[in-house]
Parts: sequence; C-alpha cells; structure tokens
Amino acid sequence: MTTPICDFVTEYVLSGKARMHMPGHKGQALHGLEPFDITEIEGAGYLYSDDGIVAESEKNASLLFGTGRTLYSTEGSSLSIKAMLAIAVTALKKDNERPLVLASRNSHKAFVDAACLIDFDVSFISPAAPSPSLCQAFITPQDVRHALKNAERTPLCVYVTSPDYMGNILDIKGISDVCREFKLPLLVDNAHGAYLKFLSVSRHPIDLGADMCCDSAHKTLPVYTGGGYLHISANADSRFFEDPKGIMSLFASTSPSYLIMQSLDVCNRVLSSEFPTLLENALPMVRHAKDELAAMGFELMGDEPMKITILPQSFGYTGDEIAAHLRENDIECEYSDAFSVVLMLSPYTPEKDYGRLLFAMSLLCRRKPVEGLPLLLDAPVRKMSIREAFFSRSEEIPAGQALGRICAKTAVSCQPSIPIALPGEQLTSGLLDALGEYGVETIRAVKA
Ligand SMILES: Cc1ncc(COP(=O)(O)O)c(C=O)c1O
Repeated sequence: MTTPICDFVTEYVLSGKARMHMPGHKGQALHGLEPFDITEIEGAGYLYSDDGIVAESEKNASLLFGTGRTLYSTEGSSLSIKAMLAIAVTALKKDNERPLVLASRNSHKAFVDAACLIDFDVSFISPAAPSPSLCQAFITPQDVRHALKNAERTPLCVYVTSPDYMGNILDIKGISDVCREFKLPLLVDNAHGAYLKFLSVSRHPIDLGADMCCDSAHKTLPVYTGGGYLHISANADSRFFEDPKGIMSLFASTSPSYLIMQSLDVCNRVLSSEFPTLLENALPMVRHAKDELAAMGFELMGDEPMKITILPQSFGYTGDEIAAHLRENDIECEYSDAFSVVLMLSPYTPEKDYGRLLFAMSLLCRRKPVEGLPLLLDAPVRKMSIREAFFSRSEEIPAGQALGRICAKTAVSCQPSIPIALPGEQLTSGLLDALGEYGVETIRAVKA
C-alpha cells in the first residue's frame, strides 16, 4: 500500500530546502520529530481538501476499512463525532422542526459539545437492563425499537457508543436492522474499536450496518495521539457525501498536524501487511490473561477482545487500590475508579508485560468484599435546550449547593469524559450524589 504523505515529507526533509514557512522550529530537531513536522507547503495537500496527497492517503484507508469514504482527523474522535453529527443534521433536518437525535446516555462529552454547537435536541434511550456505571448503557435492538416507537417526534438518526470505555460491545447488527426498519441512519461512536475491522471476522460497525462511525486510530492502532477516522458507509444516504470535509473543517484547526497525518498514512501500510497477523497472535495472550485473572478470583467485565476490565470489589479491593498496586509494580493502567480498572492491550504490547500483570495481580490476597455499588443516574429532567443552557450566563457553585439549579456546562470527571449532568438538565439529588462519587466538587449552573 502506498504512503504518499510520508513519501512527500521524507523527500522534503532530504531536499534540505530552506524552510521559510511555519512552524517556527524550522525543522531543527529539538525534540526529535521536528524535521518531519511540516505545514501546507506546495505539494503537501491539505487535510480539508478533496484532492492531493492527503486525500490519496485517505482513499487507501477507505479501501482498508471498506467504506464509501474515510476522512482523517488529527483531533481524534472528538472532531469526527462533531463532524458526523453535523453531516447527518445538515442532510436530514426538516423545515420548521428542531433536529432530534436518539442517543445512549453514556455518550462521550464530544457528543454533547456537538449538540451545543449544532443545536440539536437529544432524547436518551432507556435500556431495559439498568446500566451499572456511567460509562455503560446496555442498549439492545429491542430498546432502540421501543424508544423509536414511543418517541414524541421522529429523530433524524440514532447514535450509540460501542465499544464503551469498559469494553462492552453492543449488538450493532441488530440495532442497525432496527434503524433500517424505521428508515433512520445509525451513527456509532467506535472510538475504541478501530482494530475490530482487522479481526478474522470483522466486528467493525461499518461492516455491521452503521451508516457512519468515528474511530480513534490512536486508541487501538499504532498511531500518534490525535489520529482518527470518520467513516461513511458506501450504503449511507448520498447526501452524507456532499461536503463532509467542509463540514468537518468547521470544528477543526486550520493547522492540522502533519506528524499525525504521516502516522495515519504509515498505519495504512501496517494495516495492509502485518497488523492482522499481529492481532491474531495477541488475541490468545489477552484471552489467557483474562482466564488467569478469573482463575485467581477476579470478576471481569466486557467482551472487547483487547481490553481487560477488572471489577475487584468482590475480591476486596477498589479499582483505585488495584491501580495503585499496579503502579507500585511499574504498570500504568488506562483508568480506574472505585469499581473498576481498565487495561488496554494491543498487538504492540510486549509479551513480557502480560507476565508482569499476572505476577503483580497474583501478589494480592483476597479480602472481605468491598461494599457499594455505582450510583445509577436519575432520569434527566430537561429545563432548557443543551445549547441555550450552555450559552447562558452561568456561575460556578459548589456541587453541594446546586440542588434544583440548571446545569450550564457539561459536568464530567476528567476521565472517562462521560457526562454526569448535561447543560439544560435540572440538578437532582441523584445527579449531585453521582458528581460527588466521581470527585466533581463544583458545577457551573445557569444564573438564576
Ligand atoms: C467512548 C469515547 N468516545 C470518544 C472519545 C474521544 O476520542 P478522542 O480522544 O480520540 O478525541 C473517547 C475518548 O476517550 C471515548 O472514550
């Protein structure tokens, strides 16, 4: 597979030309990668242009992912999420009706940011099975059908997150069948699932019927932080193809990183060559680690093949205690809270690191179970639109004094950036308890 961006930049570096253009480091290797960090010079194309070497590289990615169109993002899924919602709303909005998106409550903050910027309303799908934590929403095709049948007005599209941060994968095929029944497009936050395309049988949302999805290439593929994709299915509404780049650029910097673009470019070559085999070889190592942890007595969660989520309370530890123990043993995890620890593996995880993990975990003795379950979020009470609340005058107040007030800015804990309270929602005691549990001490409330 060709690597047009890398080839161009390498040739430029070797040419030794005087760099009378941005950036200011002029290619001097102060940190190390500066020679390769260029800008839109002649021949380098532009991320938001439909031709040139970037567009050529994106075509390679589109071939690899089997999409109708793939766009690069140098600002992660956060940018792709805003772009895909704007593409859907632009194409599908109806005259004299506020756009509505039917979504899962565990949507990432970028989804709420999109609602603020694009000004759509959100109706949340209530799963029949209660969600045991903020990051999860066990949404089934039946839940989506129920929500669509009972919707107060027809949404423009359905939006779900799969895999979620904890490694749970939804039945995207089943959900997309329901969406098709109702003639609605399905948009998927697949930030954690780029690699699912390269399993021996793909579990990537586009192959399972999604119309658009975002992938954070950087989360699970060998790509620099910030590299991502926006995929549009070949079967998607033709209006989604009208001006996706123009729409994406609305939310993005005009100086996209060429280092990240080169990383996405070289990743195409890796995906078309060794990656599927490396993945195939890594899967049994993750499976083995999960089996060993279960045999030690640890409860596990999630069916994502490359993620290990431990629920250690029944073994006598909080997730944060396990993370601290792993840290003492020179292992840094992705995420922990009172209930869980999330470990992300990839085909590039050295084999010895699986042994280090299992050894460190084997040092822990079972203790009396830790009591306490994650708080379930109350059903939201909406008082204003998301955008109206976000752009209202607001004041920062201690969460303890916010009962009954209207949330102005999305309240999230730093990781995993899943909103606890959304702009425009009334702050109930349940929401305030949940804020406390995730260590959020202050909140911006709409000025009375
Ligand atoms: C479920 C989910 N969606 C979207 C994002 C945003 O992705 P990015 O960091 O690539 O912008 C994240 C980030 O952690 C996430 O966990």
